[in-house]
Amino acid sequence: MLVVEGTSKTGIGKPLAAVLGAGFVEAGQRIFPDGESEITIEDHEEGEDVVLVQTTYPFQDKRLLELYLMAHEMKRRRVKSITAVVPYLAYARQDRHFEGKNNIVSISAVLEMLGSAGVGKLVTVAPHKKEPLAAFKGKVAVVDPIRDLASGIKGDFKDPFILAPDKGALDFAKAAAEVLECDYAHIDKQRDRHTGDISIVNAPKEGIDSKDVVVVDDMISTGGTIAQAARFALSHGARNVAAAAVHLLMVDDAHEKMGAAGVSRLYGTNTVNFEKAKLVDISELIAQSVRRT
Ligand code: R5P
Repeated sequence: MLVVEGTSKTGIGKPLAAVLGAGFVEAGQRIFPDGESEITIEDHEEGEDVVLVQTTYPFQDKRLLELYLMAHEMKRRRVKSITAVVPYLAYARQDRHFEGKNNIVSISAVLEMLGSAGVGKLVTVAPHKKEPLAAFKGKVAVVDPIRDLASGIKGDFKDPFILAPDKGALDFAKAAAEVLECDYAHIDKQRDRHTGDISIVNAPKEGIDSKDVVVVDDMISTGGTIAQAARFALSHGARNVAAAAVHLLMVDDAHEKMGAAGVSRLYGTNTVNFEKAKLVDISELIAQSVRRT
């Protein structure tokens, strides 16, 4: 078996190869003046099982296309099987036709694209929802890192309270609260699809006074969701507010926005590398999942 660390350089490939007892190579990359990538992958034994590691952020489209190119090349080399480890799977949120829009269900197209390049197994971490991945023709394994994330931050909180910023994050909050051995609750929010504005519809009124509130979510993009939850927690007496999410996309001024809302600490995982946060390494967890698949 051979693990190929893709152009996104996650740092997950090497530990993954060690756990799997596999060979390891890093894809080389040169960017042409016009922005196109030239990718090189060392020759390897014929008929091997290949694991390609490529996260798809930042620059979703570029990383996805590079993943396609690398898989396509593996297929051309007639490897035995191709497993794509995609810690952050871009487009997973575009999983349906939204009300009143003629949008493309992009995740279906992405899955089809990977399948056509010969990817037979897909391993990803905390996709927005699992159901849309059923459209993939091969095998899918979903890694749930919330317990590892919670364990990694547990020692930093004396008197924690877990807050989910919306109903969708409730399962995460419950699992994190189990690990941190504390209470949890969720906010009901509503997002205006046209303006993007978020408003709180319902929220816990008790339990957060004088607590170290940790807002947990699957991802942070613009930081708006976390900022709103932080303002809510602080206005209801929280001693301080931290944020913990699996994928830290941290678009534009997300970090500053959250800081201005009172978020004093930020935690994530290494599905995406955001240097200003404490990142919990989930390579081992991913490796276990690849081994099972
Ligand atoms: C939405 O349902 C997701 O779970 C996140 O809450 C959302 O994507 C976060 O986005 P933002 O940081 O832009 O508020």
